[in-house]
Amino acid sequence: MMLLSFCIFTLSFTAVLSMVIPCHPPKNFSDITPFQLTLIAPSTRACNISASFTDECRTAEQAAPFINKAFDDYAISSVGEKAAILSLMLFETGGLKFDRNHFPAPGRPGQGTRNLMTFPFVHQYALDTPSTHSRARALAGTNATDPSITNDTMNDVRDLVLGDELSFASAMWFYKASGPERVGCMANRSLADGLIAQTRQGWEDYITGCIFTIVTEDRASVWEKTISVLSP
Ligand SMILES: *[C@@H]1O[C@H](CO)[C@@H](O)[C@H](O)[C@H]1NC(C)=O
Ligand SMILES: *[C@@H]1O[C@H](CO)[C@@H](O)[C@H](O)[C@H]1NC(C)=O
Ligand SMILES: *[C@@H]1O[C@H](CO)[C@@H](O)[C@H](O)[C@H]1NC(C)=O
Ligand SMILES: *[C@@H]1O[C@H](CO)[C@@H](O)[C@H](O)[C@H]1NC(C)=O
Ligand SMILES: *[C@@H]1O[C@H](CO)[C@@H](O)[C@H](O)[C@H]1NC(C)=O
Repeated sequence: MMLLSFCIFTLSFTAVLSMVIPCHPPKNFSDITPFQLTLIAPSTRACNISASFTDECRTAEQAAPFINKAFDDYAISSVGEKAAILSLMLFETGGLKFDRNHFPAPGRPGQGTRNLMTFPFVHQYALDTPSTHSRARALAGTNATDPSITNDTMNDVRDLVLGDELSFASAMWFYKASGPERVGCMANRSLADGLIAQTRQGWEDYITGCIFTIVTEDRASVWEKTISVLSP
């Protein structure tokens, strides 16, 4: 239905302009668009080349394809789950401005990616990703809390997963595949149900029961904004 009306609109528009505009419907109507990202976080319209960590900044246009691919790859399709995960990423990175922990300077060693995971999770992500597994293992072994792992080594392991494809997928990996059982937040089915229902309580359970952090009004307002933009 939506596909049909999109094509009709495009075709009539084409006729008016007497131009050939092929009917390319959006790849997936459930994809998050760059425009939606800018509505949630207006600062993602652009990266300021004079700002700090500018090499880590990504615009909405740059980020959207990686975010959508990760939601597809980890089979996360409900608006409620997407909103919780996306709002976490936007909150943790100050609107996609960085993907390493910088505060307080020089930042906590090994913490990063687009959901600012702490080193033990960054380490597990690098070990569990086939393309980075052997380098992560050679750098830091398999025990993230081994005291012989230096700060520089933690940062080197983090560097393995900072490419956009992996960095923008870590929040989805965390939700679906992290932890000793490799089930992320799925160990408790009612957690996903709470997110799918898009209730404040469901979101709070995710923040406290799976992300293991505290609910603050700053965090909640990003989630509320995300729900309002993504919900039809
Ligand atoms: C860009 O960053 C610089 C340095 O922090 C700041 O002075 C300037 O106001 C910023 N520009 C915009 C448009 O935010
Ligand atoms: C569209 O996205 C949904 C949700 O992520 C996914 O289940 C579906 O396979 C996607 N369809 C296509 C054609 O990519
Ligand atoms: C490693 O990082 C920790 C936490 O930031 C810091 O307290 C410590 O001084 C650092 N160690 C070295 C050798 O720089
Ligand atoms: C990891 O290293 C820590 C610190 O040396 C140790 O207490 C812990 O038992 C080790 N864990 C495993 C699974 O070997
Ligand atoms: C599962 O999550 C719900 C909230 O979604 C929580 O109330 C419940 O205590 C959790 N159960 C366990 C066993 O952690």
